[in-house]
Amino acid sequence: MATTTAHRIAVIGGDGIGPEVTAEALKVVRAAGVGIETVDFDLGGARYLRDGEILSDDTLNQLRAFDAILLGAVGIPEVAPGVIERGLLLKLRFELDLYVNQRPFIGTAPGGTKQHDFVVIRENTEGPYVGEGGVLRKGTPNEVATQGSVNTRMGAERACRYAFEMAMGRRKHLTLVHKTNVLTFAGDLWQRAFNAVAADYPSVATAYNHVDAACIYFVQDPHRYDVIVTDNLFGDILTDLGGAVSGGIGIASSANLNPARTGPSMFEPVHGSAPDIVGTATANPIAAILSAALMLDFLDEGVAADRIRAACAEPVSGSTSEIGSQIASRVAG
Ligand code: IPM
Ligand code: MN
Repeated sequence: MATTTAHRIAVIGGDGIGPEVTAEALKVVRAAGVGIETVDFDLGGARYLRDGEILSDDTLNQLRAFDAILLGAVGIPEVAPGVIERGLLLKLRFELDLYVNQRPFIGTAPGGTKQHDFVVIRENTEGPYVGEGGVLRKGTPNEVATQGSVNTRMGAERACRYAFEMAMGRRKHLTLVHKTNVLTFAGDLWQRAFNAVAADYPSVATAYNHVDAACIYFVQDPHRYDVIVTDNLFGDILTDLGGAVSGGIGIASSANLNPARTGPSMFEPVHGSAPDIVGTATANPIAAILSAALMLDFLDEGVAADRIRAACAEPVSGSTSEIGSQIASRVAG
């Protein structure tokens, strides 16, 4: 339903194709008749090279005041891996407590028949992503590196609870994916957290898959899944595979959610900044457009979000901006 006050959106176009696809997402949201006010934040690898800012406390505090953040992609080849990822993207996920990374996948056959429709709920603030560990004797033959995986009962439980709630609104089936046969400490914590939350949702059927087996099912039988919940790193890897078996990474969308709404949530395509195709107008804007649709779901604009998803399901062709305009005219019409 259209609201009278505009939603305040912080836009981080970022690097590479990020600004190109984000512009199309905003074009489509406006065409759908949703009132938004946007403020651009120039952040990412290019900004870092220019004046050294990755994400200052001041910028972070400004971002906290928005209703949502729409992000394109960040990272450039000139900056070492990890600097922008940890300093900007992961810092936003952690500082804003975006503990759910929701990534939906729909697979359609060439004729248009739906073959699978599942959602991965990836825990987004813990696991090996927290940066625990260190290095000793660097550069010597006796170098040692450790990188711990941090798993809290609270973190696993809140991700599981969100996933059970999501399953309640869908086909009432939830699969936990982990590696309990090897990661016996973390896996056991996750399994017990999952079982404890399951007791509150007796109508949801549950399953468990080891992550390696899940990779086979993603390719050979994704139809079995409705909702999946998993940890941060397994979720990262599985959702690239999910994209690959669901029309490609060019249409894979994601929502980094703070379900408690103690601050803004952040919406971004699963894909990266693709520096190899920047400026060629060949980037597919659909992942960004569908991420904006997830943003509208969260802002209680579900009708517009559904219209955008329906428009994205019809065939499109042309340059980045031509695809954006085709979808925009469908949602406006
Ligand atoms: C993703 C990305 C990020 C992640 C990178 C860029 C830090 O791959 O959103 O899936 O690993 O979470
Ligand atoms: Mn990833």
